Amino acid sequence: MREQVERRPDGREVRYFWSDGGGAAGTGAGGVRPASAVLVTGGAGYVAGPVVQRLAAAGLAVVVLDNLSTSSGRTLPAGVTLVRAEVGDAVALREVFSRWRIEAVFHFAADSRVGESMQQPLAYFRHNVREPLVLLEQVVAAGCPPFVFSSSAAVYGVPEAVPVAEEAHLRPVNPYGETKAHFERILHWTGLAHGLPWVALRYFNAAGADGPWEPKVPETHLIPNVLAAAAGGAPLRVFGSDYPTPDGTAVRDYVHVADLAEGHLAALRHLRAGGAGGPFNLGTGVGYSVAQVVAAVEAAVGRPVPREMAPRRAGDPPALVADPGRAQRVLGWRPRRSDLATIVRDAWTALQAAGAAAAAAARAGDTGR
Ligand SMILES: NC(=O)c1ccc[n+]([C@@H]2O[C@H](COP(=O)([O-])OP(=O)(O)OC[C@H]3O[C@@H](n4cnc5c(N)ncnc54)[C@H](O)[C@@H]3O)[C@@H](O)[C@H]2O)c1
Repeated sequence: MREQVERRPDGREVRYFWSDGGGAAGTGAGGVRPASAVLVTGGAGYVAGPVVQRLAAAGLAVVVLDNLSTSSGRTLPAGVTLVRAEVGDAVALREVFSRWRIEAVFHFAADSRVGESMQQPLAYFRHNVREPLVLLEQVVAAGCPPFVFSSSAAVYGVPEAVPVAEEAHLRPVNPYGETKAHFERILHWTGLAHGLPWVALRYFNAAGADGPWEPKVPETHLIPNVLAAAAGGAPLRVFGSDYPTPDGTAVRDYVHVADLAEGHLAALRHLRAGGAGGPFNLGTGVGYSVAQVVAAVEAAVGRPVPREMAPRRAGDPPALVADPGRAQRVLGWRPRRSDLATIVRDAWTALQAAGAAAAAAARAGDTGR
């Protein structure tokens, strides 16, 4: 494991540990009891970002383990340690668990493109199930700190009825959703056998922005694509206009990433208080159609959204809306920023800020890592 300290243009220092995938594990701090920290896999990503911000702001030591496959690490707050490694890198994980006493784990790292999972199911099972088993073995060996897993509404597939509650049958219609359902079952049995306290948070459509935001290539989420079309990018492709919904376009439950972050902290509090684990929906219970999202963007941006109609995509349910009752009752979680106007406004502000930052970096000749 190699260590590097990078000084950012704003004067902040970020410590990186680069795993070379081999060699002996670290030996801890020479017999001294290691400092405690929260481990966040995939912590440089979109949904994890606001969680990491909150943990760091609360004064907790945060160790992010991320391979930077879909993120740069540049948005991590000061003081957070980044271990650049795969989530299945046993050497890096042993090093982490010997350097720090890990008091909780948030496991975000995953491949999460539904279409890609249809083309490469084996890669999805390897990255989202097999590799995280290595993490889970370390967690069990470390005495089972509370474990919060990023699951997905994709576990439901095409639900028989909406709003959909946690008790509904899990019938994923793509390998991505199948990997999430698999990992939930692995957590279930690990909890029974080893006493692991765990929660699986089934996010519906993560949206909005809270803090620094990085554009994705390719972008697969609706709202950034609608905003990009409004800003002069490629016309929006609307997949399906003949669904049995009020305006014929697909209906989804959009939940602000700031609300998701609060849900993670609530889940950790719940587990620390000895509460029963299991799956929890994180959604609002309110669905918006693609046409409603487009209208909200046009209102926020003040420009028309050029669009073209395309056929339905296989496996896309007409409507996917959460019954969030269990998270409300058990975790005391309530979304506060997930109305569509706030989501769109925050996403638009973040998109503009990211564009301005990229332009400034280009002017300064900073081509990045
Ligand atoms: N965004 C959504 O709408 C949504 C909905 C439901 C569930 N989820 C789940 O939430 C989690 C986070 O999603 P996101 O949208 O923030 O994605 P993201 O791509 O922005 O973040 C994922 C992070 O994990 C890292 N990563 C990926 N594979 C890794 C690996 N093998 N080892 C180490 N690091 C790895 C990436 O570099 C990235 O920083 C994922 O598990 C995803 O399946 C997301």
